[in-house]
Amino acid sequence: MTKQSLTVLCVATFAVTVATSIPLFVLYLRSETIRNTVLQDLHVWFGTAFITFALLRIALNRKFVAGTFRQLIRKKE
Ligand code: HEM
Repeated sequence: MTKQSLTVLCVATFAVTVATSIPLFVLYLRSETIRNTVLQDLHVWFGTAFITFALLRIALNRKFVAGTFRQLIRKKE
């Protein structure tokens, strides 16, 4: 899996997670129970996929991530 395709997968799965969270949030505010379980399933599975792709992306870019953290720590000293 290339870094580029992981970026696309992260953006796409995050977009579906956010989009499905809007009707879920409205239902939550109204204290209503979810009748459309497909919406809930899509939110949970795309949310899980997003977390997986995001962690993979961090792992593949670990040198950049570690370097950025090191730089942040150095600047604070
Ligand atoms: C942009 C980020 C996210 C937003 C704004 C968001 C928002 C929401 C909202 C509004 C609900 C409904 C709460 C309720 O009815 O009590 C919900 C439920 C849930 N979300 Fe998310 N969510 C996000 C990301 C994720 C991710 C990454 C996961 C990972 C798996 C996830 C898993 C779940 C689960 C398991 C539920 C409970 C479903 C149920 O049993 O009704 N969400 N989320």
